[in-house]
Amino acid sequence: MWLKSRVLLLLLCATCHTAVSFTNGLLPNGNFEYGPKPWEMKGTKVMASRAIPKWEISGYVEYIKSGQKQGDMLLIVPEGAYAVRLGNEASIKQKVKVVKGMYYSITFSAARTCAQEETLNVSVAPNSEANDWGMLPMQTMYSSNGWDSYAWGFQADDKEIAISIHNPGVAEDPACGPLIDSVALKALYPPRRTRANLLKNGNFEEGPYVFPTASWGVLIPPNIEDDHSPLPGWMIESLKAVKYIDSDHFAVPEGKRGVELVAGKESALSQVVFTIPNRVYVLSFSVGDANNSCEGSMVVEAFAGLDTVKVPYESKGKGGFKRAKLRFKAISKRTRVMFLSTYYTMKNDNSGSLCGPVLDDVKLLSVRKARV
Ligand SMILES: *[C@@H]1O[C@H](CO)[C@@H](O)[C@H](O)[C@H]1NC(C)=O
Ligand SMILES: *[C@@H]1O[C@H](CO)[C@@H](O)[C@H](O)[C@H]1NC(C)=O
Repeated sequence: MWLKSRVLLLLLCATCHTAVSFTNGLLPNGNFEYGPKPWEMKGTKVMASRAIPKWEISGYVEYIKSGQKQGDMLLIVPEGAYAVRLGNEASIKQKVKVVKGMYYSITFSAARTCAQEETLNVSVAPNSEANDWGMLPMQTMYSSNGWDSYAWGFQADDKEIAISIHNPGVAEDPACGPLIDSVALKALYPPRRTRANLLKNGNFEEGPYVFPTASWGVLIPPNIEDDHSPLPGWMIESLKAVKYIDSDHFAVPEGKRGVELVAGKESALSQVVFTIPNRVYVLSFSVGDANNSCEGSMVVEAFAGLDTVKVPYESKGKGGFKRAKLRFKAISKRTRVMFLSTYYTMKNDNSGSLCGPVLDDVKLLSVRKARV
């Protein structure tokens, strides 16, 4: 028995050296700093499918150097000096070793260049149908410099997966399409409910990878199934994204992470919790601003059961927050807790980019336990 387990241990170690799975950070050449050889390009177009180290490409892919001009637009790259552009039907793909069954979130940065409506199809293979791709719309710009980062979550159905980003668009100009830079992956550890909080991940500390160099947060697009959310525990229910922000670049009421409600009533953040009918609960949370020049009168609406509260917050755009709460009586065994921002707000830096109130540190307790 003893001998057997030693052999097993040895075997396990032999495999752990050869198959190190990916946990956190940029994918190899995830920022495209290593590019094609000059003879593998025609102008900026990449001509061979394996020309960009670590990646496999197809369709109209361009290799773009920061500072390159397109008409009168200067193409700026956020991470390092290079990025790729996905033209008509173009895609980039990379194989990654992961832990089968584990949840992951992909984060990447993208910038629109010419087309009005651009969509990217992010997918993993091999995976079950319900869990293998997502269409991320990029029609609304949220950051001031044109770049936004996006997150998409999935559960790995195998120990090696291929991550791909595809531009399904067919524009008149085949070169039209978004720029992509900085593709990262992060293993997610879905948090559990605790006695101190009936909500999962109420402080938003568990979430997608945030680039240390990106000062514009990470957009979490609408998702239908909460078990694949890049923000574990939470669903984005409506049409538009919410923004995941970090304390390195923003003011966050608690811990290192929070959520900025950037799309008014078009983005609602929700979680379904188990409740006991007729019992009274208290939902408490922080409403603030991210210290990102987002000024004005803001209102966060919270919903639970049949009850709702509107929490006004006067933002000077310089950081700060207040606590608020909603007392409600559960009417069923499952209660949907939801938050949204009543208004749209724009940054006062002339960028025209959308911003909004910050939500953080959400707690739910039954009244017997809550100190009200
Ligand atoms: C997105 O890509 C996946 C994988 O290639 C494909 O199966 C799916 O149909 C695509 N979705 C759309 C809407 O094009
Ligand atoms: C807001 O940002 C400014 C400038 O970056 C910084 O000096 C200040 O401490 C920040 N305030 C808060 C509340 O985080």
